[in-house]
Amino acid sequence: MQIHSNIGLKMKVIAFAIQKGGQGKTKTALHAGYWGLEIGQRVLFVDLDPQNAKTNLNSESLIDTESSAAVGNLSGTLRDLARSNGFDVPDDAAVASGIIDENDHRKPAYFEENGAFIQVDSRLASLNFDVNTFRKKLQIARKKFEEYAKDFDVCIIDTGPGNIYPLILAMSLADQVIAPCTMDDNAIAGLDSLTANLLEVRRQIGAEFNLAPLGILPNRINRTRARHMQSLNLLRESAWGNHVLPVELYDRGAIEESSTRAVWRTQRGETSSSVAAQEMVDACKCIYSLVGLEG
Ligand SMILES: Nc1ncnc2c1ncn2[C@@H]1O[C@H](COP(=O)(O)OP(=O)(O)OP(=O)(O)O)[C@@H](O)[C@H]1O
Ligand SMILES: [Mg+2]
Repeated sequence: MQIHSNIGLKMKVIAFAIQKGGQGKTKTALHAGYWGLEIGQRVLFVDLDPQNAKTNLNSESLIDTESSAAVGNLSGTLRDLARSNGFDVPDDAAVASGIIDENDHRKPAYFEENGAFIQVDSRLASLNFDVNTFRKKLQIARKKFEEYAKDFDVCIIDTGPGNIYPLILAMSLADQVIAPCTMDDNAIAGLDSLTANLLEVRRQIGAEFNLAPLGILPNRINRTRARHMQSLNLLRESAWGNHVLPVELYDRGAIEESSTRAVWRTQRGETSSSVAAQEMVDACKCIYSLVGLEG
């Protein structure tokens, strides 16, 4: 079992990334975090998807709280959860761009006793990747993560499909990258462009940039659609085959509707024994085992 993470931390960092939109990054990231809490880990969520930040002239944190869970907004969902758990999210809570700002010492906001989050902000969206400053920024981020590792066992990073900077940052900080992938031909192309970009960045940055291992999580499969089953087989047999995780998520209404509550929890807080719940638990267990955490 791995004792320390890739970047030398006791906190395990799992990033959800694929350059194509709508593949289930946010949905699976949320569940992976909920799973950590379920098995008694202290979990920090980091929202690095600039899509979730809306411009707001009055505040710097710029979160659109209205369009939360329903549109796959991690920050919004966790704010909702904080509210329903009676946890106050302070105005001076940490925001995503602060991760690469050495003068920013704001703290993550808690949404429950063992769970906290760093919300996305619009500054993150305006970052332009620059190979010359990236090394320094990565060092700053690593230092911040050393601080977070004092309070958290697991860090879950959600990324967005557009801006490459947060994506590269997430992948450089992670111990494990999970790429949820629907059975859409373009999603597989999304994997190709993700790796092409990363390889280019590694070429430019050199040895300091370690690529975290990639696990592809087949998602939103519909068994009744022959094309989906064909795509799944193709994916498993493709050049990506070795990276495809031995678990699958099917297209389930219960997963789509889950937001501030994990699909394996009923409204009354009991454990659900639905197929959707079981599939998600299996996927989470698989992801955690990749970073040496069993539960
Ligand atoms: N296994 C599933 N079954 C049913 N619905 C799903 C499943 N996985 C994801 N979804 C739904 O698919 C949509 C896209 O998922 P999600 O928002 O997690 O994707 P994303 O990769 O984060 O997208 P973006 O790139 O825009 O951030 C959401 O409406 C989500 O509820
Ligand atoms: Mg998302």
